[in-house]
Amino acid sequence: MADKSTNVLVLFYSRDGAVEALAQGIAEGAREAGAEVRLRRVPDIVPPAVMAHVPGWEERSKKMIAAYGAATLDDVAWADAVLFGTPTRFGNVSAELKAFVDSLGGLWFQGKLNGKIAGVFVSTGGPHGGNESTITSFYIPLAHLGFIIVPNGYTHPRIMEGHGTPYGSSMVAGPSNQPPTPADLEVARHQGKRTAEVAAVTKSLRA
Ligand SMILES: Cc1cc2nc3c(=O)[nH]c(=O)nc-3n(C[C@H](O)[C@H](O)[C@H](O)COP(=O)(O)O)c2cc1C
Repeated sequence: MADKSTNVLVLFYSRDGAVEALAQGIAEGAREAGAEVRLRRVPDIVPPAVMAHVPGWEERSKKMIAAYGAATLDDVAWADAVLFGTPTRFGNVSAELKAFVDSLGGLWFQGKLNGKIAGVFVSTGGPHGGNESTITSFYIPLAHLGFIIVPNGYTHPRIMEGHGTPYGSSMVAGPSNQPPTPADLEVARHQGKRTAEVAAVTKSLRA
């Protein structure tokens, strides 16, 4: 069991709402475990003229930033665990989340990320569109930064049934951008809870 002194940051990028819904499930699970949780959205990085090509992109971006706040370096410094959420972009992490991660160099240089817990979750358009490759390739920058990566494993029965992955929670939104299923959300809540519980134990080692 975590407690209010365990800080969990759920840090995500979402354009169309799928990863946002998974992030809410992850945050719920971490809160259930007793942790203090911050849910933050990574800012967009493309100019409004580009966003205007996709109906509703800019509006949804503003709505999410208003609801959760834009992620800051202070949020990461505060956290004992960070759960990173991204849509798949060509089988890999979104440029928006990667740009934020690239801004962590200062904290990395000071050793402030060493030993923090990290996990990854994802939404893809198709079942074989990069669910697993997105999560596992994102492990690489997390390793460089000094995070201790905690995957899901098969620690929940729904994962054994094919919901989410042993690497991290996931969902398939499909061409009509479906929300996560109840089973996807069960795995997401489980990942939030499990990560908070691990962070509650390991934070004392960092101190
Ligand atoms: C530029 C771009 C590239 C994408 N590449 C992939 C891909 O390689 N594989 C896939 O399954 N889905 C791909 N998608 C679909 C998104 O990953 C998917 O719709 C996801 O659920 C969106 O999450 P969101 O609703 O949180 O924005 C792509 C979408 C965009 C806009």
